[in-house]
Amino acid sequence: MSVRICVPRESAPGETRVGLTPDAVKRLNSDDISIAIETGAGDAAGFPDSTYTEVGAEIVADRAALLGSADVVFKVAAPDAEEADQIREGAVLACLLRPHENAPLFEHLARRNVTSLALELVPRITRAQSMDALSSQSNLAGYKAVIWGAEALGRIFPLLMTAAGTLSPARVLVLGAGVAGLQAIATAKRLGADTWGYDIRSAVKEQVESLGGKFVDLEEGAPADAETEGGYAKELDEAEQARKRELLTQHVAKAEVVITTALVPGRKAPVLITDDMVERMKPGSVIIDLAGEAGGNCTLSEPGQRVVKNGVIILAPLNVPASLPYHASQLLARNLSALVTPMITEDGIAVDLEDDVIGPCCVTHAGEVRFSA
Ligand code: NAI
Repeated sequence: MSVRICVPRESAPGETRVGLTPDAVKRLNSDDISIAIETGAGDAAGFPDSTYTEVGAEIVADRAALLGSADVVFKVAAPDAEEADQIREGAVLACLLRPHENAPLFEHLARRNVTSLALELVPRITRAQSMDALSSQSNLAGYKAVIWGAEALGRIFPLLMTAAGTLSPARVLVLGAGVAGLQAIATAKRLGADTWGYDIRSAVKEQVESLGGKFVDLEEGAPADAETEGGYAKELDEAEQARKRELLTQHVAKAEVVITTALVPGRKAPVLITDDMVERMKPGSVIIDLAGEAGGNCTLSEPGQRVVKNGVIILAPLNVPASLPYHASQLLARNLSALVTPMITEDGIAVDLEDDVIGPCCVTHAGEVRFSA
């Protein structure tokens, strides 16, 4: 029995990515799997219809007919209510579902008996690395943040010795050294910046240094453990917090570009840069706040906007991977394929909720919503 994977054109405003790219179609197409793509689905990512037909995909103009014939739907963003209605009952949907924000959609999908898989909930275990879309997309976002920082800055990144004099390198500080942060550090370093990284997890110090960055160690200079009696410990704790804040503020003030990436899943992003800290930055400096979608890491960030405060340029771009749709789609297509193809058997699709990847990322199945925010 052949399983039909269908890929609609994304309908969310500004979404340029596509759920399957021609290279992934080529890998998937087989006796067991057929693939259908909505007309123009890959256009914005640089994959015209002809690139799909060349590798054996069918192009379908009617979205309702496409979704209504699907065994599996690969998408980038969560479907809207109309699309959710069009997906064939009993089909499997895999995409970035934004599980913490989309409860009404899940009720809808469950009523239609759709098995939905949220890429955001893929566990971060070794076996699931090829399915980890948060990592694949964050990686690109980290790269792009540096490019935007360099673009907005009125200076160059590298040290430059010329006959007319020597230009000192730009100082780049990356706050939050997860997947996006580490890629930002690597990219800034490659562009020749004096690159620094900070994370609350001091375990990443080694990773920052292995990329050629310098780690901002806020523990340095910390007083030795005090007695924990009465109010003394608390006062010391407050003094210690203030000392760390001041140290971080000094690092922020010295940087020409600050890139922030700190997120806490399902919660508002933590504040890392306050108004006071921005006030102490040099005019012309740039903040690229990658946490814009979660409210921002800088108190002055306005998601999706460019703000200038005391001469400091603050950008909090939204959906950064969509600014690199070709590669973002390629990686996403690999993540989706790696997640779903092991479910495809000779007899159709087997949803194994005991599986240590499918279980955690399955949001709706057999008429039930399985996820609670
Ligand atoms: P994230 O996007 O959730 O957060 C980015 C970074 O911000 C994290 O490193 C976090 O420690 C840091 N952060 C949070 N609050 C902060 C604060 N107040 N000040 C400074 N930094 C702060 O993180 P991401 O990139 O999704 O990675 C999360 C974790 O998952 C990391 O430990 C990473 O190594 C791990 N991971 C494991 C994988 C695997 O084993 N398959 C794959 C990818 C990530």
